[in-house]
Amino acid sequence: ASAETVRSALLAWYDDHARRLPWRSPPGSPPPDPYRVWLSEVMLQQTTTAAVAPYYAKFLDRWPRIEDLAAAEDGDVMAAWAGLGYYARARNLLACARAVAARGGAFPATEAGLRALPGLGTYTAASVAAIAFGEAATVVDANVERVVARLFAIEEPLPAARKAIRAAAETLTPDERPGDFAQAMMDLGATICTARSPRCLLCPLADYCRGRTQEPERFPVKPARK
Ligand code: ADE
Repeated sequence: ASAETVRSALLAWYDDHARRLPWRSPPGSPPPDPYRVWLSEVMLQQTTTAAVAPYYAKFLDRWPRIEDLAAAEDGDVMAAWAGLGYYARARNLLACARAVAARGGAFPATEAGLRALPGLGTYTAASVAAIAFGEAATVVDANVERVVARLFAIEEPLPAARKAIRAAAETLTPDERPGDFAQAMMDLGATICTARSPRCLLCPLADYCRGRTQEPERFPVKPARK
């Protein structure tokens, strides 16, 4: 199948099935402001959507703009983060908020510019660029990794496979609606193309999936046991 066929099928599915999450606007509508996208994506690394939702609401209520967060006491932010885990994220969050506030409160609008902010890694820079700014950045998290490894039946084991998985994901990333595309891949991985017992009968990409007929659960192939 062509990349265009796969993308259109995925975006059509997303139009009907996007999860309604607090940090999202509906498919096809203008994105939330970059502060909200960034805050949610930092929280969502290593943490489930259900666990993030109340923290996301609490942070926005207390610090509605990035300048408010930048001006917060370190201890208040750490206390508000308590329970989310991976506390380095909270320290990076503050460092980044202060860097953005220092440049007038506007995030850089490109993946490369975002990547230069303190604490913004590959994933966060790509997700904010795609979702908030509509840049055709390729967003790869564990869900996307699994979807792509199955779709292309990538036989190489992790972690070496990550390069091939990213390259394959890049071939799919659209110039139009890259943010919806990224979030559709994440939703597909979270709700249909799950690690165990994927629901291929409900999958909008089933017809194009090379892994489907060869035990999809095998992908991504685990590292050889030593
Ligand atoms: N996980 C990380 N970012 C996400 C997003 N924007 N939507 C759904 N799941 C996510």
